[in-house]
Amino acid sequence: MSENVFPVPTTVAETALVDNAKYLAMYERSVKDPAGFWGEAAKRLDWAKPFTKVKNTSYDPHNVSIKWFEDGELNVSYNCVDRHAASKPDAVAIIWEGDDPKDSKAITYGALKDEVCRFANVLKAHGVKKGDRVTIYLPMIPEAAYAMLACARLGAVHSIVFGGFSPDSLAGRVEDCASSVIITADEGLRGGRKVPLKANVDAALAKFAGVSSVLVVRRTGGDVAMQAGRDFYYDDEAAKVSADCPAEPMNAEDPLFILYTSGSTGKPKGVLHSSGGYLVYASMTHEYVFDYHPGEIYWCTADVGWVTGHSYIVYGPLANGATSLMFEGIPTYPSASRFWDVVDKHKVNIFYTAPTAIRSLMGAGEELVKKTSRASLRILGSVGEPINPEAWLWYYNVVGDGRCPIVDTWWQTETGGILITPLPGATALKPGSATRPFFGVQPAVVDAEGNILEGATEGNLVLLDSWPGQMRTVYGDHERFVQTYFSTYKGMYFTGDGCRRDADGYYWITGRVDDVINVSGHRMGTAEVESALVAHPKVAEAAVVGYPHDLKGQGIYAYVTLMSGEEPTEALRKELVAWVRKEIGPIASPDLIQFAPGLPKTRSGKIMRRILRKIAEDEFGSLGDTSTLADPGVVDDLIENRQNRR
Ligand code: WT7
Repeated sequence: MSENVFPVPTTVAETALVDNAKYLAMYERSVKDPAGFWGEAAKRLDWAKPFTKVKNTSYDPHNVSIKWFEDGELNVSYNCVDRHAASKPDAVAIIWEGDDPKDSKAITYGALKDEVCRFANVLKAHGVKKGDRVTIYLPMIPEAAYAMLACARLGAVHSIVFGGFSPDSLAGRVEDCASSVIITADEGLRGGRKVPLKANVDAALAKFAGVSSVLVVRRTGGDVAMQAGRDFYYDDEAAKVSADCPAEPMNAEDPLFILYTSGSTGKPKGVLHSSGGYLVYASMTHEYVFDYHPGEIYWCTADVGWVTGHSYIVYGPLANGATSLMFEGIPTYPSASRFWDVVDKHKVNIFYTAPTAIRSLMGAGEELVKKTSRASLRILGSVGEPINPEAWLWYYNVVGDGRCPIVDTWWQTETGGILITPLPGATALKPGSATRPFFGVQPAVVDAEGNILEGATEGNLVLLDSWPGQMRTVYGDHERFVQTYFSTYKGMYFTGDGCRRDADGYYWITGRVDDVINVSGHRMGTAEVESALVAHPKVAEAAVVGYPHDLKGQGIYAYVTLMSGEEPTEALRKELVAWVRKEIGPIASPDLIQFAPGLPKTRSGKIMRRILRKIAEDEFGSLGDTSTLADPGVVDDLIENRQNRR
C-alpha cells in the first residue's frame, strides 16, 4: 500500500461490533445467501405480519422490479417510536439544538410517541389517509420528525422539500406528486436570519391550486398571511385532538416517502422508497457503520430535506432506539466553533457531517477547534462528496485528535442508505477512500461498453445486485427509472459515478460522470440551471458545467449567450444570478457567468460540453479534438474571456 493507512485504533477495536474477520465472513454470507442474510437482519424490526419471502428483484431492463419482504407487514412509525416508548419511555430520542445556543431541548421516546400521534391525528382531521401524499417544507425543528413519523403512522407518503428551495421549485414538487396538504412553519431561523417559509408556500400556491390545507408550525411567531379555510396553525389544530393514534399496518413494499433529486436531464425525479426494505437497511447501516452502542449520543448535521436527514437523523437512528441530535443552525453561527461547542454541550459520541463543512471550518483555523474538549467523540463520519485528503487529515488529526476513525460513506438518494464505507472496528482507513462495500452490496467497475474490469482499475461504478434500501421507482414514471439506472449497462444499476479500485480492493469515488454536479454536497442537474437561465428574457442560450471550487467541492460555471442587441454588463450578470436563485433556490446560484457570443457546437448542433468543462476547469491547454466543431473560432473567444483566472 503506497498511501497513508490508518489502522483501527485499539480503543475502538475493544468494543466494536465487527472486526475485520467478522466483516469478511458477514460480507461473504450476505452476497452468497442474500435471502438468508437479510431475512435474519430484518428481525431487527417488529413485523405486524411476518414475511415469508425475502428477495424478489430483477435488473432486467425489460422487467425492472425490486421487492423485499414482499408479503410482510409493519409500520415504520411503530418501529421507530412505539416499541422504544414501551421499553424505555424516559430514554431520549431527539436532542434538539436550536439556531440560538440558548435554545435546546430533549424529547424522550415517551414524549415522541405523544407528539407523533397528535400530529397524525391532525393530519387525519385534515383528510389525510393511507397512500395520500403530504409535502413537508419545514426548518430543522422537532416537528419535522413528528410530521414524517405521523405520515408513516397513517401510511401517507411524505415528500420533504428542502427549505432552501424557491416557491417555483416547491410548486413543481407539490404538483408532481399531487399533495393536498403542506406542512410548513411561519419562518425558519438559520444563522440568526429568518427564512420566509410560509410566504414561499403562498407564492407557490399562487401557481398551483390543488392544496386544501396548509398546516403552519409557529417557529418565530413572525406575522404571516393566513388564508381562512386553507391555512391553520398547527398548535391550534393539535389542541383539538388526542395523543392516541393507532399505527396502520403497511405492506413492506408500500411507499414510505418520495424525495425529489436532480438528474442529468429534465426536471427533478421523485425517488420513491419503500417501508420494509428501506427501514431494515437504514437501521442496519446506522448501527454497523457508526458502530452505534445503546446510550450513545449520535449527531448527523444534515438537513431532513436531504436523504441523509431521512435515513440518518430520523429513520435509522430512531429505529435503533438511539439518541439523535437535530441541529437547526449552521456551522459558523454564532462562531465557527459551534459544531465543537455542541459536541461538548451534549457529549456527542458520533459525529457525521459533509466535506464542505469541514473545508470551511478548516479555513477558520485550528484554534476554534482546539479550545473545545471533544473528549466524548469516538467516531467521525463524512458524506455527500469525495473528501480531499487534506480535509480528511484535518478532520482526523485536529477534530478527532487522531483517535476517532472517519467513516467516509458513499451513497445516493436512490440507494436509501450507505453502500460503500469503512466499518470502524474492521477497516483500516485511507484518506479519500470510501473503502469497501457494506453487507449485501456488490459494486463493480465497468468500462464505457459495460465490460466488468477486474483488480486495480478505473472506470464507472455499477452495482450488480439489489439491496433492501434501493429506491423502487421514480414516482409516476417507472420508465424513467428503467431508462436512468438500468439501460446504460444491461443487468446493472448505474450509479452515475466514476471510481477507481486499488490493489487492496478499496474504492475511491472520483465524482459524477454525467451532467450532475455536486455543489457543497448538494446535488444539482446542470440542465435545471440551464433551463432557469434561458427562461430569462435576455438569454438566448446557456450551458452550465461544474468546476473545482476550494470550499464547495464544485462550483457552478454558466456560459450564457444573450439575445441579439443585449449588452453583457456586470449588472446583467448580477441580475442573472438573482434570477436563478429565485427560480430554483440559493443553492443553485451560479458562481461564475461568462457571456459567450457563441457556444462550441458540432455540425449537428450539439453543444460540446467536454470543451466547456475543460475551460471551466482552467485546463484549456488540453481541449482535445475540436475539428468537428461547426465554428472552431468560438473556442478562442471562450478561452480569452474565461471567468476562472486565478
Ligand atoms: C452523489 C449522490 C448520499 C447522501 C448525500 C448525497 C456523491 C455522496 C460520497 C462520498 C464521494 C460521494 C456521489 C453520489 N457522494 N457521498 N462519500 N464520496 N462521493 O446524496 O444528493 O443523492 O448525491 O453524491 O457523486 O452519486 P445525493
